[in-house]
Amino acid sequence: MITGLFLLALVAIATNACTTTNSLADTKSGAQLWGENCLRCHNSPSPETFSDAEWDVAVMHMQVRANLTTTEATKIADFLKTAN
Ligand code: HEC
Repeated sequence: MITGLFLLALVAIATNACTTTNSLADTKSGAQLWGENCLRCHNSPSPETFSDAEWDVAVMHMQVRANLTTTEATKIADFLKTAN
């Protein structure tokens, strides 16, 4: 929970720092990004499938495959970790 809040704070700072590269994705929730991106290639495993540490690794790998920004991947990982 504290880790999640810390990551959210980091996302907020990162978002403020680069308003010029702001994309639509910045306004989307982690759950929304997960639903839009993680079903394109395979059925998306439910959040309970993996632990927090396992999601960190899985999302890092899938960030590359799905061509996600770090902000998007962080939001998806945060969502998965609060829902598992
Ligand atoms: C461009 C296609 C593609 C997208 C988009 C994609 N994946 Fe994957 N994913 C794969 C492929 C291919 C594999 C199997 C090979 C591998 O593990 O690299 C995989 C494997 C996985 C696994 C491992 C499954 C297991 O049972 O071990 C997880 C977890 C996963 N993806 C989650 C996600 C999540 C979360 C997202 C959204 C951020 C996502 N994927 C988006 C292609 C994709």
